[in-house]
Amino acid sequence: MSNVYLNGEWLPIEKAQVSVLDRGFIFGDGVYEVIPVYNRKAFALTAHLKRLERSLAGIRLSPPLQDNQWQLIIEQLVKEADTDNSSIYLQITRGVAPRDHAFPLNTPATVFAMAKPMAPVPEAWLQQGIKVVTHEDDRWLHCDLKTTALLANVLLRQYAVDKQAVECLLIREGCVTEGAASNIIVVHQGEVLFPPRNNLILPGITYDLIIDLVTQAGIPFRETTVTREQLANASEVMMTSSTREIVPITDIDGKKVGTGLPGPMFKQLLSLYQSLK
Ligand code: PDD
Repeated sequence: MSNVYLNGEWLPIEKAQVSVLDRGFIFGDGVYEVIPVYNRKAFALTAHLKRLERSLAGIRLSPPLQDNQWQLIIEQLVKEADTDNSSIYLQITRGVAPRDHAFPLNTPATVFAMAKPMAPVPEAWLQQGIKVVTHEDDRWLHCDLKTTALLANVLLRQYAVDKQAVECLLIREGCVTEGAASNIIVVHQGEVLFPPRNNLILPGITYDLIIDLVTQAGIPFRETTVTREQLANASEVMMTSSTREIVPITDIDGKKVGTGLPGPMFKQLLSLYQSLK
């Protein structure tokens, strides 16, 4: 595997080590980003760096690096990556300090970055769609921040895996929020419905790109709350993320979505998305 970046150094991953007192380890006190790379070019990089800055501000951590410094690190990772398509993982924590919940003073952040090969989305998912299960969204109220404190998401994804499903679709107070590690979009009565960008969902970069695509293509859409009933009557449901792009959901809690096969809107959106790449 290619070298990783840790606090200004380039190291083989086995040599990259952080203290057990790192607040990322002790408290999950940090933020992260995942940026897809196609043909050795980072995709939607500006939007990802903007969201990183927003997440840092949301946890009150000063940006340890400027955009041009991130760009240099990412260029190096992309150049050294083992594969042409990879995903870049960036993580920043509040650094190493004696354990105390309150912020430490004058402590440099821990900055870590690596590239990971990006596996293509399984063909069967695109041909047949995936199965998901629903669960009450029992996460905190700052889901718009991409923080490394992901235990709730981990438990929710595992709940899905235990039920032989690919993703867990989250419902809060009767409305769809997102997936454990994805956004959800719903086709209902000919319109594409996007659960609103608020504190209850991560503002997905893929979600944003799809909003741009449907706008340009003149496809009717709305950013609106999506109820459990609308979900149950949807003709199509999809999950989106930087690493999975757009995946059709054809089974929710053992019930078919629409015809039970990927629908025409999915096919159109996937092809528009592929042409963006
Ligand atoms: N996760 N919502 C959640 C909770 C997520 O974790 C993700 C992505 C998304 C989709 O966001 P984007 O389109 O910007 O990738 C929505 C990444 C891939 C991860 O944690 O690995």
